[in-house]
Amino acid sequence: MAGVAKERLKSPRARLFVALDLPGEMREGIVAWGKEALADPALRPVAPESLHITLAFLGHRPEKEIERIAAVVGECAGPAPWVELRDPEQRPPRGRARVYALPALSPGTEALQAGLSRGLEEAGFYEPEERPFWPHVTVARVRPEARGSRRPAVVSEPPGRLPERLSEAQICRRMTLYRSELKPTGAQYVPLAHVELPGQGGSEVI
Ligand code: 2AM
Repeated sequence: MAGVAKERLKSPRARLFVALDLPGEMREGIVAWGKEALADPALRPVAPESLHITLAFLGHRPEKEIERIAAVVGECAGPAPWVELRDPEQRPPRGRARVYALPALSPGTEALQAGLSRGLEEAGFYEPEERPFWPHVTVARVRPEARGSRRPAVVSEPPGRLPERLSEAQICRRMTLYRSELKPTGAQYVPLAHVELPGQGGSEVI
């Protein structure tokens, strides 16, 4: 057996990421808007419980590191940020869309992400990305053009603008370490540790 495969057997791995959770009201607002805005058959809307702002994608890490990673995430808690959602954008920006996301206007989230990135890097669990952080909520992925194809289908009715209420600033009070489990029906995100973000003062890992 190849060395890498043997290593995998000895040390099971988990696909991990840290995200800023959205308040229930914001998630409900996105879901209500998405009922019409994300109705194009080429789109696969993100499940309500999976709507979040990714702060750090750690990739596959040995399961035995999870507890230590959760502790570092807890230490990186900063003030709960205000977030303002903006109208959907496609990614990549030109050509056929692969995903649609709502950009998040939020200096507080950028500060939180910078601290988290530094903390996880210093602890040896994360290699910061070279591209700048783009806070966003992915709301839909585009289905492939044909079975087994990597090319996304054409979206004839791309999502339109957000209602004004959904663009109003809301505070996000929780950061979560997730495990992403790839299933035939799509990825499922399992929360491993929640960190309540303080208005001011201390924080708590639960
Ligand atoms: P996305 O929302 O922009 O698609 C779980 O997969 C979360 O981690 C998703 O929110 C996804 O971001 C993000 N993610 C997945 N792969 C990633 C990668 N290679 N780099 C950065 N973020 C990634």
